[in-house]
Amino acid sequence: TDIDQFIAGLPKAELHLHIEGTLEPELMFALARRNDVTMPYGSIDEIRQAYDFGNLQDFLDIYYAGTNVLRTPQDFHDLAAAYFDRAAQDNIVHAEIMFDPQAHTSRGVPFAHVIEGLLSAMRDAEERHGITSDLILSFLRHLSEEEAFDTLRAATPWLPQIKAVGLDSSEVGHPPEKFARVFAAAAEAGLKLCAHAGEEGPPAYVWEALDLLKVDRIDHGNRALEEDALVERLVDEQMVLTVCPLSNLKLCVIDDIASHPLDRMLEMGLRATVNSDDPAYFGGYLNDNYRAVTAARSLSREQVALLARNSITGSFLPQQAKDAHL
Ligand code: HPA
Ligand code: ZN
Repeated sequence: TDIDQFIAGLPKAELHLHIEGTLEPELMFALARRNDVTMPYGSIDEIRQAYDFGNLQDFLDIYYAGTNVLRTPQDFHDLAAAYFDRAAQDNIVHAEIMFDPQAHTSRGVPFAHVIEGLLSAMRDAEERHGITSDLILSFLRHLSEEEAFDTLRAATPWLPQIKAVGLDSSEVGHPPEKFARVFAAAAEAGLKLCAHAGEEGPPAYVWEALDLLKVDRIDHGNRALEEDALVERLVDEQMVLTVCPLSNLKLCVIDDIASHPLDRMLEMGLRATVNSDDPAYFGGYLNDNYRAVTAARSLSREQVALLARNSITGSFLPQQAKDAHL
């Protein structure tokens, strides 16, 4: 339709994307074969049928199991290259990519293999598609703060090539406060700060991400809507929220795409963006997310254009690069 063409044509940035969540079943099988890894699934259909989640943890169990096929720098390169090829089709001009080093180092894969593979695909993407990108090193919040510090130390040789840290995995029971010191150390090292907050966790976790972690962006933030004072704070600070409509649906954060709060967020003055989170698991890439929520909530062209504009202004690009995309 008309609005779908409009969405497709807008230059967009993707700000909330877990690279491990772009592992399509076809590539999973190919890497399993290449690395001689036994798969817990017999077929691609069987994999897709397993992607029926009741909550975040159901998804995470399957997502971490999927990472087991990723072993060599070439594997991480191929994973990211496939994402960038797909991103180019959606007119993504810039991507800020989260990766979960602890999901790999815990299996004996060296940090260097993970990051060197990703960086080589990022260089290729700029050459082949003109897509710029940055890395967000995400800590797994179900692990300890000491393990997060170990990960930050392992990243030291690559700090100039890392833009930000993030905080993901099982939210409830692992409040931002647990990571206050490691986030302070990351800020001291010159990194930007992001944290998942208010996806399943309560509004208190969003307050903590702001006050204790001092984040530059909130990933998700849905449950902030439960507290007027928190919404007011987010609006006042023009805090960027990286909202993920199809993820919210698949992880049962919402019951129905028709009840997604994205347009309410915009109407309240929140600086929301649209993102795909883990597109191989949630049934859609970036434009699929825009199209689904636009149709379900009857977003106007102006609202869609604002979302795309927020993705550029809300990125960690330098001002002149932002201006070039606006
Ligand atoms: N939420 C929390 N942790 C994650 C997600 C998510 O949507 N995707 C990958 N790790
Ligand atoms: Zn996420």
